[in-house]
Amino acid sequence: MRTVKSVSTMKALAREWRREGKRIGFVPTMGYLHEGHLSLVRESKARTDVTVVSIFVNPTQFGPNEDFSKYPRDLAKDSAYLKEAGVDALFYPEAAEIYPPGYRTSVEVEGLQDKLCGRSRPGHFRGVATVVLKLFDIVGPDFAFFGAKDAQQVLIIERMAADLDLDVEVVTCPIVREPDGLALSSRNAYLGPAERRAARVLSTSLRWAEKAVAAGERDAARLVAGIRGVIEAEPLARIDYAEAVDPGTLEPVAELRGEVLVALAVFIGSTRLIDNLRLTV
Ligand code: PAJ
Repeated sequence: MRTVKSVSTMKALAREWRREGKRIGFVPTMGYLHEGHLSLVRESKARTDVTVVSIFVNPTQFGPNEDFSKYPRDLAKDSAYLKEAGVDALFYPEAAEIYPPGYRTSVEVEGLQDKLCGRSRPGHFRGVATVVLKLFDIVGPDFAFFGAKDAQQVLIIERMAADLDLDVEVVTCPIVREPDGLALSSRNAYLGPAERRAARVLSTSLRWAEKAVAAGERDAARLVAGIRGVIEAEPLARIDYAEAVDPGTLEPVAELRGEVLVALAVFIGSTRLIDNLRLTV
């Protein structure tokens, strides 16, 4: 596995692969890798000739009072996982390589960026879209792999790729969970033992919702009230949002019909976790 730190070297390597006719798969991450990330790597390996993973804790997608400086990092362990998984290149740039002095440009996916997580994290998706566009330009992938756990993020990246005519196919991979249902996340590392137990409430509430819909519930407000009830029964949990929305527009729905995205953000202590459920009613 090649570890590449500079933009120019990464561009040259990708150009070489394209010249050889290789199809490039790309998995952007912020590191502290877990099985969720590795599932994206495996999907890329299955579909493409070479796989590039980036690890970059992107400062522009963190708010001023968020966890940028304490975001978990472990390059040695991440590199070992990626080598073991058969990744061809790890792109690991410094912040100044991506945002050199004088940097001014950003991308906004209007409307979509302000809903759900965008409401409690203003500027977050501007940072995400901007860095992903830059990484796409540097790596030039044929396919890019994202997790359904960050449903709003994938939607925004798909919209950006379509709107800007990017030559990349965005592939969404299913949410990988712990045996008790908790969606894997680098931020789970923040949870103490009691919080870790409490964190099950996100997936528990979604499973409750799935059953309620299977049993015939078609009223979104009632479904969301039920989800809130399950979460509020957990003393360590505080709801940021719980919504049933149209998966294409992220607008709240009144009736559960067709494709529906049920999305949650919940603080467990001071750790903000997200999860979601995609329903076809
Ligand atoms: P990060 O949180 O490291 O996640 C990288 C990718 O892994 C994302 O596409 C995310 O959806 C996926 N992922 C995380 N947990 C997952 C799980 N449990 N199951 C399946 N996939 C999972 O998302 C980011 O980084 C950043 O915003 C990034 C896109 C890299 C831009 O900075």
